[in-house]
Amino acid sequence: ERVDASGLLVFPGFIDPHVHSRDPGQVAKEDFAHSTLAALCSGVTTLLEMPNAVPPIGDRTVFEERAAAHERVASVDFGLWGQVFGASNLDDLPGLLDAGAVAIKLFWGYALDKRTKKLVYNTADAAPGDVVAPPDAGDVLRVFEVVGAHGGLLAAHCEDREVVLGGERALGREVRTYEDLLAGRPALAEVAAVSRAAEFSRVTGCRFHVVHISTARALEIVRAARADGVPISAEACPHYLWLTAADYARHGAGMKVFPPIRGAQDQEALWAAIADGTVCSVGSDHAPHAPEELGGSLAARPAGVHGVETMVPLMLDGMARGRITPERLAAVLAGDTARLYSIDHRKGRIAPGLDADLTLVDPHREHCITAAALHTKHKVSVFDGRTVRGAAVASLLRGEIVMRDGEPVQPGRGRLVRTSAATLPDPVGAAA
Ligand code: DOR
Ligand code: ZN
Ligand code: ZN
Repeated sequence: ERVDASGLLVFPGFIDPHVHSRDPGQVAKEDFAHSTLAALCSGVTTLLEMPNAVPPIGDRTVFEERAAAHERVASVDFGLWGQVFGASNLDDLPGLLDAGAVAIKLFWGYALDKRTKKLVYNTADAAPGDVVAPPDAGDVLRVFEVVGAHGGLLAAHCEDREVVLGGERALGREVRTYEDLLAGRPALAEVAAVSRAAEFSRVTGCRFHVVHISTARALEIVRAARADGVPISAEACPHYLWLTAADYARHGAGMKVFPPIRGAQDQEALWAAIADGTVCSVGSDHAPHAPEELGGSLAARPAGVHGVETMVPLMLDGMARGRITPERLAAVLAGDTARLYSIDHRKGRIAPGLDADLTLVDPHREHCITAAALHTKHKVSVFDGRTVRGAAVASLLRGEIVMRDGEPVQPGRGRLVRTSAATLPDPVGAAA
């Protein structure tokens, strides 16, 4: 089969580095077959899966089990994140990195409920004895040291637990309005966590990535630290780039996500940070919930939005509107993301001998994002009804056409990608 690429733009296959497929453990919300099929249909060819399923990927044994299970159903190539809980699995990190975990996620300020193997935010949520306490500063420093010593990438959800608990206590009642939500999780929560992370990164030399950054001030901290030689970087997500707090009037609880979506100035700062490289990677933070969980009040609805199938069209729309250049789009959706997660020897570059993951884009094709037409398990999108300009019209995975016009041609061909520290030979110069 051939594709006529006249009039199209050819990009390295797009990478979504931040997906929660909830599989295994919470497959009523989503599963890996659906999330990777949805990714495929949008123009993504590689997805990096977050480790906090049940059980979480906290050691090499779970890593290999998860890899084998996911390889049976994956429609795009995938890498796996590993997870650290502080001191309790510090010794497992070298094994995870050697196995090829693309990065290590620190669930900073969260604890692991040993009984349910689920993360809990507040240790009061679980019975005594069931919980490993959140890591203290000493544990966190050791995590940075161990990951840094192995050349790994460490990342964390950056909302300082003390600031959040203080904000919630100051509110003194259930969250009712969007202002309440922002009061419980103010910019200061992110700023405090990011400045701490920057200093840990500075003293240990460990590479650190701020996922889903949301505030102008935290971006300034990352920018200044980078200028100082600190190996820190940041990720932006489409919902922070396309929505502001003002959209709550229209979307209501449907746009509840942590950290919360903030004001127009923060949004402008995110686009500027993409342009100047402070943000080197864009991910969806696909965090699906089942429809029956989404109907409740702002307080009751769990945080997180669907996003794996809408990231690429939204970013292409940003390109059509002149908010991002084609070069920066290729970087944040492929090249720089591949380098960040050390999968660049296989993904995210167009060069002889690489494995020919390509996404073909029609920059002029207008279409309406329609939740009902999505390929995720639940057909939910806060962007339902939005008209965007630009669409991925075909994808090649390792040289084979796997997607056309938003529908799968060859689903189920995804394979595990291990980070380059592991066993894969560098294929540059080898036969494709
Ligand atoms: O809103 C969120 N939902 N933020 C996170 O960081 C986690 C996510 C989820 O997994 O539901
Ligand atoms: Zn997070
Ligand atoms: Zn996430």
